[in-house]
Amino acid sequence: MKNCTCVKDILVSSARIDKRVTELAEQITNDYKDTSPLIVGVLKGAWIFMADLLRKVELDVDVDFICVSSYGCGTSSSGRITLLKDITTDMIGRDIIVVEDIIDSGTTLLYLKEMLLERGAASVNIATLLSKPSRRVVDIDVKYVGFEVPDEFVVGYGMDFKERFRTLQDICILKEEVYKK
Ligand code: IMP
Ligand code: MG
Repeated sequence: MKNCTCVKDILVSSARIDKRVTELAEQITNDYKDTSPLIVGVLKGAWIFMADLLRKVELDVDVDFICVSSYGCGTSSSGRITLLKDITTDMIGRDIIVVEDIIDSGTTLLYLKEMLLERGAASVNIATLLSKPSRRVVDIDVKYVGFEVPDEFVVGYGMDFKERFRTLQDICILKEEVYKK
């Protein structure tokens, strides 16, 4: 998807994303040396980030996906989490890295982390492409953060507004009129 007329600004260019994803992958490769972590991607937003990240991580990993919904169709969290698709990999005793597109209030990741630990994971760390620290309402430790971003609703590189714009190569801010439609 190119030259999208709905975009106001590019917040993070694809070149910056690529460089930062490489750094995160190196960090994960070092931190998990000689282990085989289970990587759990949160659908749908994390799919592109996870694909790029894992092709740069030099570890023997297992991959699974989970799908939760916390956002209705608007731009703010409903606060209620619904599990739409569960993982199928046996996770007991596994070191897990949850890969997420963006941490906003933190509710989704806190819910997932507690659920995976309760089910018997040995450890759970979080890798998120973006973090909006000013929006946090729960206290949660996030080990790998790509970029801290201001309180703007962003799309692209996997992230959507009402299921649109996921295939933009950059992380973009939409024009206000797109929300007001
Ligand atoms: P949280 O539970 O409030 O942290 O919400 C996290 C989820 O909300 C993320 O996984 C995203 O799917 C979605 N989200 C939060 N902010 C944005 C945004 O700016 N653009 C697109 N999705 C967002
Ligand atoms: Mg998400």
